[in-house]
Amino acid sequence: MELSITQPDDWHLHLRDGDLLEGVIPHSAKHFGRAIVMPNLKPPITTTAAALAYRESILKALPKDSSFTPLMTLYLTDMTSPDEIKRAKKSGAVYGVKLYPAGATTNSQDGVTDLFGKCFPVLEEMVEQDLPLLVHGEVTDPNVDIFDREKVYIETILVPLVQKLPQLKIVMEHITTMDAVKFVMSCKEGSVGATVTPQHLILNRNALFQGGLQPHNYCLPVLKREIHRQAIVSAVTSGSKRFFLGTDSAPHEKRKKECACGCAGIFNAPVALSVYAKVFEEAGALDKLEAFTSFNGSDFYGLPRNKSKLTLKKAPWKVPELLSFPFGDIVPMFAGGTLEWEVSLN
Ligand code: NCD
Ligand code: ZN
Repeated sequence: MELSITQPDDWHLHLRDGDLLEGVIPHSAKHFGRAIVMPNLKPPITTTAAALAYRESILKALPKDSSFTPLMTLYLTDMTSPDEIKRAKKSGAVYGVKLYPAGATTNSQDGVTDLFGKCFPVLEEMVEQDLPLLVHGEVTDPNVDIFDREKVYIETILVPLVQKLPQLKIVMEHITTMDAVKFVMSCKEGSVGATVTPQHLILNRNALFQGGLQPHNYCLPVLKREIHRQAIVSAVTSGSKRFFLGTDSAPHEKRKKECACGCAGIFNAPVALSVYAKVFEEAGALDKLEAFTSFNGSDFYGLPRNKSKLTLKKAPWKVPELLSFPFGDIVPMFAGGTLEWEVSLN
């Protein structure tokens, strides 16, 4: 069996910088036409100038003859100014502003502590400039159970935000719960959308502890119960335009995952399309796959759809155990496993 689809885009991707960037970028560039590139570097990409410089280094790291296009983002802080938002839009290279609640995830320590206070003029300017807010939707209060942090974020931040600024375009990134599905469905289509990762569609929280602690299944937001996974699968396979592909592929070196205090993040770029295809096939919804991978995201961002095509073939292939680079090793999602859909490049 073969499926020919419009080339997909990745609406949530961590490309890192330096050696790591050079090592991982071919894996995204091979399958995806464009990607929204996350700004959580050290130091974070908080200005348009930094975003443009980062864009140059991404283009330089690309394999020759690749037509992959990075779509840059700014990292929102309490100090971001409305003028920076104007510059970002004017640059033509920045497509969103990423909101990390301070302390929520990897390299989020410079994130937002006062969204409705210090950041509000910036949000208003984003409405003016038609730049979407890309949200890591988890509260950081250590007293809130880690499995409830998305739900509480929706109740305490996103619902009031949509009420106060209904014209603001929002992408709720990497949704993990039925609460997020309900929230997105309750908003106006075209004004609030959501990205969905391969891991949150195919794994539930048991995968963290299957036969022992599984650091390579650890990401943030953390995997949730099976009922939540099922709700997300139903949402994406329903054909709703509100949900689109965002891998959240987040490489960390093996030694930083397999240690006493391992990093959050799953490197899924090599397997993402195979996993999405499997999920849609199992739901009997392969006819809805292309809209999710290749139309809904570009339509939401107001960008043209890709013109080129890509073929998915039903043929088993083995995921490598390890990807080795001069700087170290990275363990991909489903390392050593067999997947049923193969991307065939034409
Ligand atoms: C991401 C990373 O490593 O940068 N990690 C993750 O678990 N997803 C950050 C993020 O998107 O939360
Ligand atoms: Zn991410």
